[in-house]
Amino acid sequence: MSNLVSYYQCSNILELGTSLGITTAYLASAREHVNVSTIEACPQISKIALETFAKLNIDNVTLHNKPFDEVLPELYKKKSIFDFIFIDGNHTKEATIRYFNQCLKLSHKESIIVLDDIYLTQEMNQAWTEIVANENVAISIDIYKFGIVFLKQGIVKQHFTIRY
Ligand SMILES: C[S@@+](CC[C@H](N)C(=O)[O-])C[C@H]1O[C@@H](n2cnc3c(N)ncnc32)[C@H](O)[C@@H]1O
Repeated sequence: MSNLVSYYQCSNILELGTSLGITTAYLASAREHVNVSTIEACPQISKIALETFAKLNIDNVTLHNKPFDEVLPELYKKKSIFDFIFIDGNHTKEATIRYFNQCLKLSHKESIIVLDDIYLTQEMNQAWTEIVANENVAISIDIYKFGIVFLKQGIVKQHFTIRY
């Protein structure tokens, strides 16, 4: 994940689902001049994540301790735009598609969106299939553990499945 951020020189990053902040820490350390916004509804988990960031001297993370459905509209109202978005929480089909559509409003034409656990359940796989077909998606890559979506405009829609 952090390699993608580094390779594509992403600066503004959004993570849905902080948990203990492990991936957040990697994203925040991917390159210089990165700002990470991360969302975690559980106060106890958020507290541990914040302690982890402090221990690691990570000061470029903003943790929103609220549900995704509250924070995403707030970010939209503030006109926040992200280069890289990692969706990793509330793994139901309906919620995943809804978050994806909300994240589209927080994206620009070169943004990258990563969805974790696309084979976790049949529902998650159905959500991934719908997202791949979304008209805003130019390139989608299925690497089994997660799916990567490029919103790049002006290129022929393509889907790749990486087998390893
Ligand atoms: C799979 S974990 C995230 C793992 C983390 N991204 C990582 O890679 O280490 C999902 C997290 O999302 C949080 N979560 C689930 N649904 C949520 C919601 N609707 N709003 C905010 N947080 C939520 C859970 O409390 C959980 O900590």
